[in-house]
Amino acid sequence: MDHIIGYDLARGLHIIAVIAWISGLLMLPRFYAYITASAPGGEVEQTMLKAARNLRMIILGPSLVLTWAFGIFLFATYISGDWSRPLPEVLGTVPHWFWGKLILVLGLSGYHGFLISSGRKLIAGERRHSEKFWRLMSEIPFLVAIAAVLLATLEP
Ligand code: HEM
Repeated sequence: MDHIIGYDLARGLHIIAVIAWISGLLMLPRFYAYITASAPGGEVEQTMLKAARNLRMIILGPSLVLTWAFGIFLFATYISGDWSRPLPEVLGTVPHWFWGKLILVLGLSGYHGFLISSGRKLIAGERRHSEKFWRLMSEIPFLVAIAAVLLATLEP
């Protein structure tokens, strides 16, 4: 395929970005669980707040952007053929599995946003959820990732 970067390279970079993104989404709620279990104002709380902030800035932010950027590039290439056709016709060629995957990745992106705003509240000293809640939340990205990966690879 005649692009600046090849399709297969983009696919590899997409998967690498996905690995970083999902790992971050799995770790961050665990950090929030430790913060919630710690003594307010204590050393553990301060250390974990800093670790959570670094995880958001260094891993989660960039990997969200790169996952979407490579995903959109793959999508544009995968369905292309011909973008000069009318839009409904182009959209008609999009396979069904992709719409399912899109719903899942929009869900993950919303979950990401929820974690960011929860992080701000924890910094402000507001603990709105229990330690158990955060432990449960940390399981969700993996379950969604399983479904998203199988949709992308099996293309049902
Ligand atoms: C964020 C928006 C995303 C978009 C727009 C997107 C879009 C795409 C597209 C168009 C492909 C190419 C499919 C093919 O060539 O067969 C692809 C591949 C893939 N995506 Fe995504 N994706 C996104 C996020 C994710 C996430 C969150 C995961 C995993 C949790 C994921 C896992 C994969 C895998 C494993 C492949 C390789 C499939 C294969 O080569 O058969 N993607 N993605």
